[in-house]
Amino acid sequence: GALPGALPVAPPAAAVQAAPQGTLTIVYGTQTGNSRQLADRLKQRAEAAGLAVRSFRASDYPVRELKNERLLYVVISTQGDGDPPDDARGFFDFIRSKRAPALGQLRFAVLGLGDTSYPKFCEIGRVLDERFAELGGTRLFARAECDVDFEPVAEPWLGQALEHAKKELAPEASLATVTPLRTVQVPPTFSKENPYPSQVLANQRITGRGALKDVRHLELSLEGSGLTYEPGDALGVVPRNPPELVEAVLSELRLDGATEVKREGRGLPLKRWLTEELEITRLSRPFLASHAERSNDAELRRLLTPEGGEALRALLASHQVIDLLRQHPGKWSAEELVGALRRLTPRLYSIASSQKRVGEEVHLTLGLVEYEAFGTRHVGAASNYLATREAGQDTVEVFIEANERFRLPKDTSRDIIMVGPGTGVAPFRAFVQERAETGASGRNWLFFGEQHFRSQFLYQVEWQEAVKQGALHRIDLAFSRDQGQKVYVQNRLREKGSDVYAWLEGGASFYVCGDAKRMAPDVEEALVDIIATHGSKSREDAKAYLDSLREQQRYLRDVY
Ligand code: 2AM
Repeated sequence: GALPGALPVAPPAAAVQAAPQGTLTIVYGTQTGNSRQLADRLKQRAEAAGLAVRSFRASDYPVRELKNERLLYVVISTQGDGDPPDDARGFFDFIRSKRAPALGQLRFAVLGLGDTSYPKFCEIGRVLDERFAELGGTRLFARAECDVDFEPVAEPWLGQALEHAKKELAPEASLATVTPLRTVQVPPTFSKENPYPSQVLANQRITGRGALKDVRHLELSLEGSGLTYEPGDALGVVPRNPPELVEAVLSELRLDGATEVKREGRGLPLKRWLTEELEITRLSRPFLASHAERSNDAELRRLLTPEGGEALRALLASHQVIDLLRQHPGKWSAEELVGALRRLTPRLYSIASSQKRVGEEVHLTLGLVEYEAFGTRHVGAASNYLATREAGQDTVEVFIEANERFRLPKDTSRDIIMVGPGTGVAPFRAFVQERAETGASGRNWLFFGEQHFRSQFLYQVEWQEAVKQGALHRIDLAFSRDQGQKVYVQNRLREKGSDVYAWLEGGASFYVCGDAKRMAPDVEEALVDIIATHGSKSREDAKAYLDSLREQQRYLRDVY
């Protein structure tokens, strides 16, 4: 079959040069950017130590070079049910396949990232680590596996990695001598490690009274921070737990919030640990296991055996720490509690603005996570924290998380199709603003869906304005609960299938943002159908067409 409208893709610069001897190669696979961040850190340190280093996103790594590698470090996460991150699919499949070469001269080490709430924790890292050895490679040092709170495990691994690399590759004298010493005064840069305290400029509910969901439009100031972002990037937010929930945990365990507690050498009052440092709106498997012992609860213990499987997952997904404590009482001291809970990690929100339009501001579209469970109101830590910040008064600690995988086409004459139901519409507000500001000549087509037209047409006035000004060329809406039968964005896509296909054939990029569990797979299914129907292709060829869009970075997803 014909290939979809070809977009010239430049090969990654580093791919053209072969792996020279005496070089450290780092390959990372990342969904949210953590693995990349760790790989970057390792690369910087290795360079500072005078080593020759190359670092690749797994999708950019030329696998044919693998057989020539001498020293390879892999930093890779595991998604949900044991899948590689999207950008590492090809790399992972290749290494597992029969086509993988013998690696007799390779020395390697693997760092896995994952989430202990899932049964196949760090599976991808483990499989790669074992496979490299099976192919004849020499493991330099043991694999490490990080939980969501990755720093305590990742940092020592990075240290080991650097020490081994120094031993393996005697630094080239020339390189070592030209490495400049950083003696100049550098202005403070804000980052995940050093987030910027951003003033809340606006916090406005944008769903109507009748709506089931509380969705907010937030505007935060970046004034003087020096922080910049591109459409597609995310904002990292350092959350705090709801004060009522902290009180509930303290009272359930009969602990005093003023008690001074140490963890990793740092002393804070228990209440601050629970408010600012530790995760209590989510339940981790290790905490559950620890609690099962304390409560000596046969039901919990059974869940933790291999038979527990599905029931364990269900419990972890549906309970907050407080629910567990209430339903299965057990004793905790302040020190043990602080030692057993996971670190509270920053949350990422797709940015809903373009700096070309809003300057030193960043906008978010925030869906408040709130629900009834076990007779009480439950909320998500970060969304509740943000939703309760007062404009003109509160600050929030933020940083920019670049998302290179979700970018507008460089060629501004290309068309784009955007599918963003619910708060998934956020990055597309940024896209449309950016394309309007840069005078992009390509057309923009938005598919948006929510439950009700009247109360949940997010940014309705702005879209209407954009249509009027020629910044938005088409908009299709799916309000799922305004009629007897559910209508979703994928129904609208199918209805407009012929045009969708024509746009793709004309070189359009296709973007999806929002729910990863059901919406994104359903939209993909619709897309395959559309390509098959309107391109007169078999299902298989339609899938190959979609794969080729993916390879050309014209089918891009930001789903969570
Ligand atoms: P629902 O809540 O009526 O099921 C934003 O959340 C919109 O996405 C809502 O209209 C929601 O509909 C809809 N939605 C739910 N499941 C979906 C799916 N599998 N595919 C597409 N949209 C979905």
